[in-house]
Amino acid sequence: MNKYEEQKFNLVNLKGLSEKQVTEHIKLYGGYVKNTNNLTDKMAELKINSEANALALSELTRRFGFEWNGMRLHELYFDCLDGAGQTAEEGNLKMMIEAQYGSFDNWLHEFKSVGLMRGIGWVILYYDPIVKRLQNVWIADHEVGHLASLPIILAMDVWEHAYLLDYLPSQRKEYIEAFFQNLNWRKLNERLHLG
Ligand SMILES: [Fe+2]
Repeated sequence: MNKYEEQKFNLVNLKGLSEKQVTEHIKLYGGYVKNTNNLTDKMAELKINSEANALALSELTRRFGFEWNGMRLHELYFDCLDGAGQTAEEGNLKMMIEAQYGSFDNWLHEFKSVGLMRGIGWVILYYDPIVKRLQNVWIADHEVGHLASLPIILAMDVWEHAYLLDYLPSQRKEYIEAFFQNLNWRKLNERLHLG
């Protein structure tokens, strides 16, 4: 079976996020890749005698969603953090946001507000190609609250580990501002397949 491979991210000179912070965060991401592979192997082992191992197998299956989503969300997160200085001026995504939310700032305010909610998790901007709608969603942990089958356009990590080396726990707002200063909007536009 194919292994999940840890992706490399070249993120230097980010605005408002130190190299130490990003490096440590990427190390944590590596843990999710490792655990996803370990779980995959362990479950395959237990499946050899699935009846006797039913309890352990179902617990590991439940945990798989946490590790796998932790891995994949971090890949989406780091992959679009290399756009310092870009703005959302061009592209279909901005046009679509404006059409649906009335203005880009309306959407931005809503997305950031969701990110300021207490708790650990993610804010995700999904696109529903069936009704052609964007949707801001709060995800608890890494796996609770996903909208089935919808493509993820933007994923913002608001676990404290994403910013604690640069900001205090009470400064999540400042971290969110820094996150938006580094976004690569060209990549976000590529994630939006309007079909
Ligand atoms: Fe994270």
